[in-house]
Amino acid sequence: DKGGHKHFMSKEIAEQPIVIGDALSHYLTTDGKDIVLPEIDFTQISRMTMVACGTAFYACLTAKYWFEQLARMPVEIDVASEFRYREPPIEATSAALFVSQSGETADTLAALRYCKGKAGSILSVVNVPESSIARESDIALPILAGTEIGVASTKAFTCQLTVLLLLALRAGHQRGHISDEALADHLSNLRSLPGILSHALSQTTGIEEASAELAEARDILFLGRGVMYPLAHEGALKLKEISYIHAEAYASGELKHGPIALIDQSVPVVVLAPCDSLFDKTVSNMQEVMARHGRVLLITDKKGEATASAGVWKSIVMPQVSDVLTPILYALPAQLLAYHTAIAKGTDVDQPRNLAKSVTVE
Ligand code: F6R
Repeated sequence: DKGGHKHFMSKEIAEQPIVIGDALSHYLTTDGKDIVLPEIDFTQISRMTMVACGTAFYACLTAKYWFEQLARMPVEIDVASEFRYREPPIEATSAALFVSQSGETADTLAALRYCKGKAGSILSVVNVPESSIARESDIALPILAGTEIGVASTKAFTCQLTVLLLLALRAGHQRGHISDEALADHLSNLRSLPGILSHALSQTTGIEEASAELAEARDILFLGRGVMYPLAHEGALKLKEISYIHAEAYASGELKHGPIALIDQSVPVVVLAPCDSLFDKTVSNMQEVMARHGRVLLITDKKGEATASAGVWKSIVMPQVSDVLTPILYALPAQLLAYHTAIAKGTDVDQPRNLAKSVTVE
């Protein structure tokens, strides 16, 4: 049942405030002031190894920034198909964490089995609690996104991010890098997130207009820095999957190391840049694109738009949230751009060619 939506994907995009709210109710105490998680002692964990495929891997890439910044915890990440054959040394003091919507992805499951008996604990973040990955983990954390039918993952991604952020906050608090007051602030911000996401979903005209033009492009670049770098990857992947337009993501600072050679009028460049501590750096990369007649679609907040939108092709203004929460919020425009671009191209949004919802063979 598409619940009045034309596609499962748009239904699932729209459901995000609700399912993230569900995940928060599950993982927070009723007063919302503390995190409820199974007993994991992050002070005893020397390193986290996070492994996944596709969109779930980009959730791990985002979580790496969070665990390093909020918990000062070393994090190694890899895509499962590389990890499993690399035979990486795994210390007994490390924890291995696997992220999978389906819980059945063959490479991720094989990577988990490789870590068994080597890592001190095996954790997973899954949408299907009965899945193989969940069953074979010491601790499986459900993301509570509900059934995801659209092949392109949307609500599972933001629910994965929500659970991973709660883990990083718990780790930061246990390890003494987040004070009680700071934790209370983070949780209060998180509790207001579903409302902010609903608001963002109600203002999508700019995205639809931009998408109509993106649909004409052959190649599109996505740029981001810091926590927006994983989001650039996620935006590019979503677009490729459902609109079949070639899209690449780069860390903004990598632009001048090669990809800038691609820039001309025909290549739109999507820049994901909330006005955070790295904003000025990203803006200077964006100006390098504009100096080469690149068409910039800037996704930012009010402050970012006020300071940096001169000369950009279009800007999309997102609500203001704390820096830690921007990856969850900015996932929405990344998903919506892909969705509306695919609609403009007339492709099959829910069943893109060559793709399966669950990849149970390597
Ligand atoms: C992208 C997408 C895929 C999956 C990947 C992993 O929209 O859906 O990239 O994220 O195949 O799948 P799970 O999470 O089931 O392990």
